Amino acid sequence: MTGTDRPRRLRRTPALRRLVAETTLEPRQLVLPMFVADGLDEGREIGSMPGVFQHSMDSLRKAAVDAVSAGVGGLMLFGVPCPEDKDAVGSRASDPEGILNRGLRALSEEVGDATVVMADTCLDEFTDHGHCGVLSANGAVDNDATLHRYVDMALAQAEAGADLLGTSGMMDGQVGAIRRGLDAVGRTDTGILAYAAKYASAFYGPFREAVASTLEGDRRSYQQDPANRKEAIRELELDLAEGADIVMVKPAMSYLDILRDVADRSNVPVAAYQISGEYAMITAAAERGWIDRRAAILESLTGIRRAGADIVLTYWAVEAAHWLS
Ligand code: PBG
Repeated sequence: MTGTDRPRRLRRTPALRRLVAETTLEPRQLVLPMFVADGLDEGREIGSMPGVFQHSMDSLRKAAVDAVSAGVGGLMLFGVPCPEDKDAVGSRASDPEGILNRGLRALSEEVGDATVVMADTCLDEFTDHGHCGVLSANGAVDNDATLHRYVDMALAQAEAGADLLGTSGMMDGQVGAIRRGLDAVGRTDTGILAYAAKYASAFYGPFREAVASTLEGDRRSYQQDPANRKEAIRELELDLAEGADIVMVKPAMSYLDILRDVADRSNVPVAAYQISGEYAMITAAAERGWIDRRAAILESLTGIRRAGADIVLTYWAVEAAHWLS
């Protein structure tokens, strides 16, 4: 072959490849999702997510310190209440003594401003029926009644020290309602990480174990249909108009086209959530020796960044941060 069209020329040595690499992966771009469970004396490993723990208050603090020293960009906290503390409206979500708010206080005490503390602002862990909102008489999730609960929850989380609130419930108007609620009490500095596009995904399976979900049925009346792409843009535009500070796409790997669409249209930073099922798949295949674990993890994170994510939530945040620094 003759001529000048030889792209392999730039792939010849590691130095050439490093020089021309377009996509970066840095610890500060990674956010670690964490679980704190009520009534635990020590951390408990989640069966379908080997290496990921439900934390006790003490083990949460220790893991947060480790994550900060690894240089991660942030921590996203989920709470797992005792079964007897769940009720129809998820009262403990907005109770300052609820497990998530206690955990947020512990995190902000422990790590202060050394990283960004984020809270999951959704009711599903706290409701006895496991839905992300309150139910109306006919059993459907009542959008507008749920917004009042989200505002109460948001205020409690801001009070507990969260820097960013992750609105993951997929109710219409949730970002605007929470923004107005925060502003009304002078919490203008608390930001909103809006789950702009969140799909009803089978890959949430292991997470349901992680938070001891009581859900029967599914979330398809509020989370998006995997078949739809245009709808993600509509959701994005609403969240931006309602005051989202950061927008997120979730899951990540089966939705890279959505991530690209959102990144191309967003004027705020874009996050993507590499969810529990994505973690479980790579973990299980690597355990069987079917793929190279470290290479697969780094490739998956690079792909998510390349598709347009400025920030990636991943259960490998700390481990990957060590590899990258
Ligand atoms: C629900 C919520 C889910 C996740 C985070 N928040 C799952 C669901 O909709 O059931 C999933 C995270 C993961 O799978 O890692 N508010």
